[in-house]
Amino acid sequence: MPLSNRWTLTRYLIEERRRFPTAGGDLNALILDVSLACKAIARIVAFGSLGDTLGASVVPQGGSVNVQGEVQKPLDVLSNEIFIRMNEWNGNLAGMASEEMDEPKQIPSAYPRGKYLLVFDPLDGSSNIDVNVSVGSIFSILRAPQDVIDSGRAVTEADFLQPGAEQVAAGYALYGPVTMLVLTVGNGVAGFTLNPNLGEFVLSHPKVQVPPDTTEFAINSSNARFWEPPVKRYVDECLAGKTGPRGRDFNMRWIASMVAEAHRILMRGGVFMYPRDTKDPAKPGRLRLLYEANPVGMIMEQAGGRASTGRQPVLGLKPTALHQRIGLVFGSKNEVERIERYHHDPATRDSGTPLFAERSLFRN
Ligand code: AHG
Ligand code: MN
Ligand code: MN
Repeated sequence: MPLSNRWTLTRYLIEERRRFPTAGGDLNALILDVSLACKAIARIVAFGSLGDTLGASVVPQGGSVNVQGEVQKPLDVLSNEIFIRMNEWNGNLAGMASEEMDEPKQIPSAYPRGKYLLVFDPLDGSSNIDVNVSVGSIFSILRAPQDVIDSGRAVTEADFLQPGAEQVAAGYALYGPVTMLVLTVGNGVAGFTLNPNLGEFVLSHPKVQVPPDTTEFAINSSNARFWEPPVKRYVDECLAGKTGPRGRDFNMRWIASMVAEAHRILMRGGVFMYPRDTKDPAKPGRLRLLYEANPVGMIMEQAGGRASTGRQPVLGLKPTALHQRIGLVFGSKNEVERIERYHHDPATRDSGTPLFAERSLFRN
């Protein structure tokens, strides 16, 4: 299709906004600034180790540790900075929160404030950067509570603790062989490919749908000995393949970059699991609710897929902390529902139930 016939991200947003004649355009402006942050990060990622000199003035030296005790790579910190700088000035936000910041970020007093909150993981899968494997950025847009807008008071952690079902928009950018932006504003999911000549995101995947069935699963099986019985049962049945209860062979993938994993699943189906496990009782899961599970959950549900803790839909949870972790299962609807059934099945429901642990191929 010639370029002139394709929609840019800007056009998509304007056409979407026409469905709401009273909308002022703030959300569109905000999403365009987020997309600009993603383009800036894509450029830096694309320069790889050659970018040292290019980014020397802004790349912090060495690494540090974030609020969750994880090592921050310089690119984690730089991507966070880019998200902040591209969005703090535009008058559309009352505050921001990110994986890389302990506390919510206030809008500097030099700038006007707006009615939205932006929550993000500026660089997801950052352990993949050094080995030239796909990384991404993922974000969620919430409405600021009315009293924040009316009073102009500083935002607090509590203002961000809204169920995923309240998200106004969510999306991710994937920095892979091509850079893509995948977005939902609550009316399905659309995928845009970055045209590097124009520097524009161009609509390449309208109305993305996750196939309801799949024979592909993704899980970090090095954690198998810590899995709860329902997860062991599900994975065992997949591994048993044609001769097992599922009666068909399954394939497995693990990229260790949730955004890349989500993208594969959106494109061809699959199920992703980073379930709650017993590895560290202080951490109920690996992934974070507000800026990983919720945006991916909205995208999956808007594309006809499903996102769950294993026990209940992710989008229904009331968050209790900004950096809360959660067990996460998402992807093809019928598989996610099956995993939920196993979590509710008395035979596998309770942690430590020996029935499936004993039969498990991952028995230890
Ligand atoms: P981040 O780089 O933002 O910390 O997130 C990494 C996450 C997620 O993207 C991925 O699915 C998972 O951590 C990988 O976990 P393992 O290292 O256990 O494979
Ligand atoms: Mn992440
Ligand atoms: Mn990250």
